[in-house]
Amino acid sequence: MCGIVGYIGPREAYPIIIEGLKRLEYRGYDSAGIALFDGKDLKVCKTKGKVVDLEARSDKEITKHGSVGIGHTRWATHGVPNDVNSHPHISNSGDLVIIHNGIIENYESLKKELISRGYTFKSDTDTEVLINLIEDVKKQENVKLGKAVQIALNQVIGAYAIAVFDKNKPEEVVIARLGSPLAVGIGEDEFFIASDASPFLEYTKDAIYLEDEEMAIIRFHKGIKIRKIKDDSLVDPYIQKLKINLEQIEKSGYDHFMLKEIHEQPKAITDTYRGRLLRQEAIIKMAGVEDNMKKFLNADRIIIVACGTSWHAGLVAEYIFEDLARVPVEVEYASEFRYRNPVITEKDVLIAISQSGETADTLAAIKLAKSKGAFVFGVCNVVGSSIARETHAGAYTHAGPEIGVASTKAFTTQITVLTLMALRLARAKGTISSSDFRHHLLELEMIPKKVEEALKSDAHIQKISEIYKDVNNFLYLGRGYNFPVALEGALKLKEISYIHAEGYPAAEMKHGPIALIDENMPIVVIATKKGHYEKVVSNIQEIKSRKGKIIGIVTEGDVQVKELADHVIEVPETLESLSPLLTTIPLQLLSYHIAVMLGKNVDQPRNLAKSVTVE
Ligand code: AGP
Repeated sequence: MCGIVGYIGPREAYPIIIEGLKRLEYRGYDSAGIALFDGKDLKVCKTKGKVVDLEARSDKEITKHGSVGIGHTRWATHGVPNDVNSHPHISNSGDLVIIHNGIIENYESLKKELISRGYTFKSDTDTEVLINLIEDVKKQENVKLGKAVQIALNQVIGAYAIAVFDKNKPEEVVIARLGSPLAVGIGEDEFFIASDASPFLEYTKDAIYLEDEEMAIIRFHKGIKIRKIKDDSLVDPYIQKLKINLEQIEKSGYDHFMLKEIHEQPKAITDTYRGRLLRQEAIIKMAGVEDNMKKFLNADRIIIVACGTSWHAGLVAEYIFEDLARVPVEVEYASEFRYRNPVITEKDVLIAISQSGETADTLAAIKLAKSKGAFVFGVCNVVGSSIARETHAGAYTHAGPEIGVASTKAFTTQITVLTLMALRLARAKGTISSSDFRHHLLELEMIPKKVEEALKSDAHIQKISEIYKDVNNFLYLGRGYNFPVALEGALKLKEISYIHAEGYPAAEMKHGPIALIDENMPIVVIATKKGHYEKVVSNIQEIKSRKGKIIGIVTEGDVQVKELADHVIEVPETLESLSPLLTTIPLQLLSYHIAVMLGKNVDQPRNLAKSVTVE
């Protein structure tokens, strides 16, 4: 996600900001920029690429003096990564400059209004709209920058952490937050602004963390004033004495990026459906789907290509699309699809799923499908990645950077996007009633809270991990929507603990795998209330009669499986079509804790890369 660093005080701002941006590199980004007031004028330098590229460019382009400045590392959400879209952004007058972390959902309507008032735009970003909205308010209302920011933000829908200053009043920086973190380091008559404390921890341990819907006006020699954005009321600043180190900050206090990303899933899912799931209006808004609706409606079939965890998300999508939108779906390993001379026609729609957007086999499968005239739609997490650029259209997951090699929040946000697509298509085809459609929207909107609930079983799962951490084999069983989750759970365990694990459709046991079962074999069985429950219970009884150790993933309040299984882990109830978003959570935690107990390198498991860019 994006990184924000700012400084106002007696020192040279440039080195503080540049080093601070380097401290935030762990957050993942694709471009960087800085704005300084050098005593005479505003200097801005920004570039696609890394902070080192920004330094090289700054050497050539700007004087690096000035004691007030703001810097940014951008993780693209609107507008591909390039120089123009990178931050900081300047207002039309050239007076105001902003950096922003977050998503402004209503930026298109705000942009239209500003264009009608004669504003022009250089970039495709929502951030450039925001800085011109602030400028417009400042002019129309004839108010100071702080007041203009407060008024403007009350017109904004979305999430933000911003830092803004006016070159005509460089002794003042205005910051604000809603949904994206923002901290202020309090020094001796100097202030540090940052997305987290890592950029200023070496200068001061005194910090103020803005709360949501708060803004602050920071004045050199005058101090900081915190206000509520809603009503401009003053807030007493609460200064914390930080007792954390840099490494703890990068992982937000978690021991590993994987655990941090498991716990980020409620926010990641929320960010992914933000602006797309409009429950009140009972509509789903996805530009990439709307603009190509005919292709989807006239498709003979949907072919899904992906690898690994993304392929598992594709399998979940097969159930959702066929169940709700009644469209034939085939899910293919990209590596197989690209070489088996598949039959592809112009009547096919191909959906390519990829967190990194750089997986070589998936990219090759896309090119093959395009060469045969198919329409290709991408579901990626990295804006501007090769797959995002190669596909005809697409929808991004807004999971934020996924650092851990084992995919977690990518999986649940991919399913979120694919569920929204299937519901949108079902609505367009009339294969879902409006009451079912509304019910799905309501339930999907509640999923982040239910993921929070599922995460509360962590301590219980740690105890189960302790019991089974030394086994040599695991089986994972699921039916229907949760068959792909069984595969995903097995992959998670394999790739970080190096314990052999297989996922199967629960009914498949009788066709061979049941021969494997004895008292040393733990079997994870996904037995949620709505998914062929009785059949899964009879599968559990078959396993029990062969002394297998059963770990049941059940709907909270379950009694029947509880009586049969050795352990149960409860997840909140939801629609069966949405249950993978919840049942996968305990499987992520189980694999994580077993791997940690075995002393494995959880974030960088042996032999694995985060993105397989070669065959
Ligand atoms: C899953 O945990 C692995 N990291 C791996 O299977 C991954 O899902 C696969 O390599 C596909 O990557 P992509 O989503 O970036 O294309």
